[in-house]
Amino acid sequence: RRSNFVNMVKHLSDVPSACYSNEIKITQSSPFRQAFHIESESGSLGDPNGFSYFNGNYHLFHQWSPLAFSKNPHYTQHGWRHLISSDLVHWQNLGAGMESDSNLDLYGTYSGSALAVNDILFIFYTGNTWKNTESLDNWQRVPYQVGAYMDKKNHIIKNTAPFLTGPLKGYTSHFRDPKVFKKDNHYYAVLGIQRDNLTGTALLISSPDLHDWNIVGEIKTNYSKFGYMWECPDYFEIGNYGILNFCPQGLEHYPNIYQAGYLIGNKMNLKTGEFFNTKFYILDEGFDFYAPQTMKAPDGRRILSAWMGISEIKYPTEKYHYTGCLIFPREVNIKAGKIIQKPIHEITHLYKTSDYITKNISNEERIPIPNKNQRDITFTIGQSNSKALLLDIFADEKNKNHLRIIINQKKNYIVINRAHSSFPFAEEYGEERKNNFNLSKNLQIRIIQDISSAEIFINNGEHVFSLRYFAQDNQTNCFITSIGGESKVSIENHQLS
Ligand code: FRU
Repeated sequence: RRSNFVNMVKHLSDVPSACYSNEIKITQSSPFRQAFHIESESGSLGDPNGFSYFNGNYHLFHQWSPLAFSKNPHYTQHGWRHLISSDLVHWQNLGAGMESDSNLDLYGTYSGSALAVNDILFIFYTGNTWKNTESLDNWQRVPYQVGAYMDKKNHIIKNTAPFLTGPLKGYTSHFRDPKVFKKDNHYYAVLGIQRDNLTGTALLISSPDLHDWNIVGEIKTNYSKFGYMWECPDYFEIGNYGILNFCPQGLEHYPNIYQAGYLIGNKMNLKTGEFFNTKFYILDEGFDFYAPQTMKAPDGRRILSAWMGISEIKYPTEKYHYTGCLIFPREVNIKAGKIIQKPIHEITHLYKTSDYITKNISNEERIPIPNKNQRDITFTIGQSNSKALLLDIFADEKNKNHLRIIINQKKNYIVINRAHSSFPFAEEYGEERKNNFNLSKNLQIRIIQDISSAEIFINNGEHVFSLRYFAQDNQTNCFITSIGGESKVSIENHQLS
């Protein structure tokens, strides 16, 4: 990554204005721009950061390299973009929120979190720096865990001294992504860290006042050899459960290059970091999902954001000088000891027209709904003696290209297949994602579909598959095919503005 650090600028405003406006123009010419998902206005978007409620609004930042695709000359700036919203649906872009402009974050204002404390939004982030100790070839990463403070005018002041500096004894300099939370009038944060033996874990630290931070220690789990690094940990509690979301890198036997999952069990002992007898689950079984971050809404809901993308994958949008989007925010709950997710109910603010259709399907049928890939569509499969059902979205008139959901009722599995696309990408990680479910009961599939993405919720969010899909202009149809029998399917479609 260091080789990318050419022409580092401290502020986006330091580059000639024609340069960045040209980047925006190229991005705006993309046919893949989404309607209601947060995307980068140009450059690359990564992890959601600082997701919080403060001063009457939701605040959401994300990792942002606005000039990532600038050429002749190329510039580098890696910070946080800032957006605010009153309803988590309509967002106002405030542009650069934090930029890599201090000695503590010169090589990247990396991920972090935020917590409203009285009149201030406390921000806790990782400043990434490199130092060259002996020769030009001996670069070492030095991560700083830094505090910053945003006032009600959205003005942010960063501390000039770090709370903690890596590497800590026993650990490498992979140490980042503080997620701050408050419990029983005490503050805590969890951070991702790599042990000297090159295994990943999370560190728990605590503070009475957000100034003095003490290291409680590693979070103690039964997963002591579980990947080489844990990125973006997030600890929260729902009912009697403690949940640690994190992104273990280097796990084998999973289809995605990097994973996002969670450990769930009894609440963590915040005095000792003990979090034993927990179980690990993948949070989202789709192709493109990483770095989830939650916040607690004023009404008590636990709301999840995440990057609908994975680093190292080249997306077709790069041609238009941008990449990445965030998921549509989800409400997280627990059912039968596991996380269930659903799109926040505020999605109804986007409802324009609604169609309700019930059909007995015995062959291939086009679903008569408006031709625009902006919808919240639910398929409920009732009585059925079919062997399998195919749900195709992003389909052209002949249903040659599409995103296909295969529901095999005989063998009890669901497959999401994105092989039929005019803009294939990341094929080396497989073009299918599969999971086994009991399909004997009523099955419900809800899809939040935007111009170039789909978030597929099975049975009220017991399983979720999120992915990007890049379609031609004529791929706006939906088809259902029933194989080897007949199925009764009810469809509820809401076109979104
Ligand atoms: C995860 C991550 C974080 C880091 C940030 C840098 O995608 O690698 O660990 O803080 O991205 O952009």
